[in-house]
Amino acid sequence: MKHTAEPRPAVARRSEKLRGAARVPGDKSISHRSFMFGGLASGETRITGLLEGEDVMRTGEAMKAMGARIEKKGDMWIISGVGNGALLQPEAPLDFGNAGTGSRLTMGLVGPYDMETTFIGDASLSGRPMGRVLEPLRQMGVQVLKAAPGDRMPITLRGPRHAAPISYRVPMASAQVKSAVLLAGLNTPGVTTVIEPVMTRDHTEKMLQGFGANLTVETDEQGVRHIFIEGQGKLTGQTIAVPGDPSSAGFPLVAALIVPGSDIIIENVLMNPTRTGLLITLQEMGGDIEILNPRNAGGEDVADLRVRSSELKGVAVPASRAPSMIDEYPVLAVAAAFAEGETLMQGLEELRVKESDRLAAVARGLEANGIDCTEGEATLAVRGRPGGKGLGGGTVKTHLDHRIAMSFLILGLAAEKPVTIDDAAMIATSFPEFMGLMKGLGAEIE
Ligand code: S3P
Repeated sequence: MKHTAEPRPAVARRSEKLRGAARVPGDKSISHRSFMFGGLASGETRITGLLEGEDVMRTGEAMKAMGARIEKKGDMWIISGVGNGALLQPEAPLDFGNAGTGSRLTMGLVGPYDMETTFIGDASLSGRPMGRVLEPLRQMGVQVLKAAPGDRMPITLRGPRHAAPISYRVPMASAQVKSAVLLAGLNTPGVTTVIEPVMTRDHTEKMLQGFGANLTVETDEQGVRHIFIEGQGKLTGQTIAVPGDPSSAGFPLVAALIVPGSDIIIENVLMNPTRTGLLITLQEMGGDIEILNPRNAGGEDVADLRVRSSELKGVAVPASRAPSMIDEYPVLAVAAAFAEGETLMQGLEELRVKESDRLAAVARGLEANGIDCTEGEATLAVRGRPGGKGLGGGTVKTHLDHRIAMSFLILGLAAEKPVTIDDAAMIATSFPEFMGLMKGLGAEIE
């Protein structure tokens, strides 16, 4: 789908109590990786619970363009992979739309191949820095034949005849950069090492091990992770049940906390500890969130969440928690707008390079709706107003960013006046069911 069409504004209004049970779509990070690793592995991969958002579908198209067969039968996606090392040169540029994860991981995946691959994306993705992935790839011998200024898309890569394994210390907390280097290591002779000083989501490591890659992790006394992957091994197709996305769960979760009288259940949410920062923070703020039926499904912890409306209080969120809730700050800022006192979020430098400059986009959106906040270089302080009196009434610029769009619609459910967003189209990249799911719980959104 193209997003050059007319923008589609949406409005959220103060709602009566939210009630019922909902199941959020599959985790975006795991869904991307399921298509990628399934497309690469020998044999068949079967996936249920896949997120059918636009971003993930772009990754599927890219894998098809490089030789994988992907089809859907009933609720199941079935992939016939090419075999590790056997991707084909795509005939046309790979268009990743809005998707940072899909494009950056695929750059790593194809980097060492002796072929030419071109990456393009929408205006948001074309503005995002790709040098963080190109830098280690260059060290492995990958040529960047073309790139827009500042190592931005469109980008054309050409792999070397023989890629060189490297040892790479990831300079920022980024699972995408870590993953790109590990995926490049898959088709490189010898052992590629990634050193990760601050742990980020570990789906690449866990899933590659599941597909049979020779990947090991050692954590040293300083807590620094050393990840080793042996190249040119065999990957074998797997059966994957994708758990619900905790980042998407954040929207109904915060909505239920701030809309008085709410009591909802969100089913089958991924509880991997590298993803639970929002949950911990909201519980510290006094949020009534009960973790029900904790269980293990396909190697990941999952649970159902019962959420009841709560009187929240402001907290200081430590910078060390940022990697485990990096995509959740916009919706946390919305929760903070209804909390007693100040919520201080720290260590937010990576928010500047997401689908939008999320730190600025959140601050402008809060201000437009009467919320007192201070934007620092890498911090955000929000001073809340319990009950939401006087809040709302603004129009929020979403800057092609799905999480800005959804977060501010959640704000409108508890603010005194309606909240408008300039464009709801990008919600389809990660949570196509958002409007229907929220309305099903009783939210007034149109
Ligand atoms: C992701 C990593 C994070 C996150 C993104 C998904 C992943 O990005 O924000 O939504 O699946 O690896 P960074 O690596 O830029 O932190």
